Amino acid sequence: MLTLDSPLPHGLVATNGTGVAVRPRRLRLNATLRRMVRETVLSPADFVAPLFVRHGRGQRIPIGSMPGQLQLSVDQLAAEAKELANLGVPAVILFGIPAAKDALGSDNYSPTGIVPQAIRAIKDAAPELIVISDMCFCEYTDHGHCGVINMPGELHFHPHLPQGYLLDAPTRELLARASAVHAAAGADIIAPSGMIDGMVAAIRSGLDDAGFEHVAIMSYAVKYASSFYGPFREAAESPPTFGDRSQYQMDPANRREAFKEAALDVAEGADMLMVKPALPYLDILAGLRELYPLPMAAYQVSGEYAMLHAAASNGWLDLRRCALESLTAIKRAGADLILTYFAKDAAKWVQA
Ligand code: PBG
Repeated sequence: MLTLDSPLPHGLVATNGTGVAVRPRRLRLNATLRRMVRETVLSPADFVAPLFVRHGRGQRIPIGSMPGQLQLSVDQLAAEAKELANLGVPAVILFGIPAAKDALGSDNYSPTGIVPQAIRAIKDAAPELIVISDMCFCEYTDHGHCGVINMPGELHFHPHLPQGYLLDAPTRELLARASAVHAAAGADIIAPSGMIDGMVAAIRSGLDDAGFEHVAIMSYAVKYASSFYGPFREAAESPPTFGDRSQYQMDPANRREAFKEAALDVAEGADMLMVKPALPYLDILAGLRELYPLPMAAYQVSGEYAMLHAAASNGWLDLRRCALESLTAIKRAGADLILTYFAKDAAKWVQA
């Protein structure tokens, strides 16, 4: 029998002598008992489903590196949104693949751009579904970076700044403009994902000035320059044509800096914060959860999804069990919302 001489943290003493015997196993004896004392329970309301919307009609293009995920054209999107809503998933987040890209990513701020079209289609089909607009320029720029890039010959060229440098001021202006356009199309939440300094403040004032004070901001406050985004770049057709994103996304080695980033976004008026990726960064998520009273989101990214599928298709892991275990861990660490490509499957699994 278990013997411990020192007190346990809550004042309990495990002993085989005269005191009380503590056997945590008593509460694990059967499934009903385990369910009664379970601390973290997943529900479809925890999930946000990412959707990729592309130009064209009748398009349903499978994404090779993300089994089960599709690029859908606007006309195909409504049915998908309705299905998610019927499963109890409260929200979707949209990523656009435009017909044409340019240096400023103008499709993102065009009222007839791919995402504004998609927002209107979803709002028509499933008005109760919350539509979150991922606000970043990398899917829309011809160079694949998340904003305006310093290039000789371009409109915003700045001779003292390095070539290839992401220019904050013009990027913020375009983010504010695009956010108002997405809000006008019906977006409920704007989710800036570019890690541009000052992006939240710029978007907040852009929305307010355009009459959208009721539209919330979910900031990708802490987004790491992660290699786990690999499959997404195929999904969104958005790899940078030169360099990488580490000049604006965070170094995976840094924790203190995450608190600095979050503090700035809270001060700038973010309504919710996000940590991304999720599973490799649970320490960051748990730390921020303790510190801020805002709702916390975590993004289980494309690579997290792809690796579970890859292992499962080799017969090495049980997909459903490992996906649910990961999602439970993300919620246990402090996520109020989980952006996940498993949203549809997991909504079914947790209902079953
Ligand atoms: C755009 C954006 C990315 C992801 C979400 N928004 C790509 C990136 O920053 O490189 C990644 C999502 C995923 O991997 O699932 N800035």
